[in-house]
Amino acid sequence: MTEREPVYVVFDSGFGGMSIVRAVRDRGIGGRLIYVADHEGFPYGKRSDSDVVARVLAVVGAVKRNFDPEVVVIACNTASTLALPALRKRWTKPFVGTVPAIKPAAAATRSGLVSVLATPGTVARDYTRDLIGKFALDADVTLAGAPQLAAYAEAIWLGQEIGRDVLAEEIRGAFVERDGRRTDVVALACTHYPLIIDELQAAAPWEVEWLDPADAVARRLAAVAPQLNGDDETPGLFVSTEPPVMSAALERRMIDLNIDPEPIKLAVLPDRRGVA
Ligand code: DGL
Repeated sequence: MTEREPVYVVFDSGFGGMSIVRAVRDRGIGGRLIYVADHEGFPYGKRSDSDVVARVLAVVGAVKRNFDPEVVVIACNTASTLALPALRKRWTKPFVGTVPAIKPAAAATRSGLVSVLATPGTVARDYTRDLIGKFALDADVTLAGAPQLAAYAEAIWLGQEIGRDVLAEEIRGAFVERDGRRTDVVALACTHYPLIIDELQAAAPWEVEWLDPADAVARRLAAVAPQLNGDDETPGLFVSTEPPVMSAALERRMIDLNIDPEPIKLAVLPDRRGVA
């Protein structure tokens, strides 16, 4: 009997988790990647808290039934800052979360002005405020919610153009000048944003250090699932709750990350068990 190769899932509301996949690929983590996007539920950033938890439980339930992965990476800050306790309560196999890089941001700032750029959901979370209270008490932290930026990032990643002034408006709140000091570190607390780092820099009023947590998440995945280490990387699968229309740009992106571009549709049943 041949052993099944280890399977891991990287899950996001859309294509934002591809910034995590990039880091996972750079680390040469083995096993079979299944990339799961909840395009039917995108965007999560504007949904209510209870809605996000119910949706994430429903999608992860479908993922578990269909693929039985060794580990699931929740490659989404909006979901991780809310749904990790409920996920860990329901399933015993491990989850790796993605949460705002507030501790490294506070360590990196020289001006003392740090910003967290995220979805409106993530900036409103107690989880995010608790991280500031724990790790950034000496820094002056601005929470900047960007209502449309994840959708713009998704569009840009798929080859569409979004004007620089439109992006500038979305990130404006993250740039603060106070008492002759300026924000010098911006934590990218939505996995979509590192996909468009060049566009963000071009739209920024001044240069800052952008903190992308992707490598830290990839490192955590390797530590939590040692069975993935040392295996040859096999082509990944692309699964979506509402597969997008295939385009040359999307196909190229997928092939670059060693993922079979042909999407597989994931049917999601409403979560009836509720949050225990
Ligand atoms: N990529 C998700 C995150 O890291 C958010 C996108 C959305 O609003 O669905 O927060």
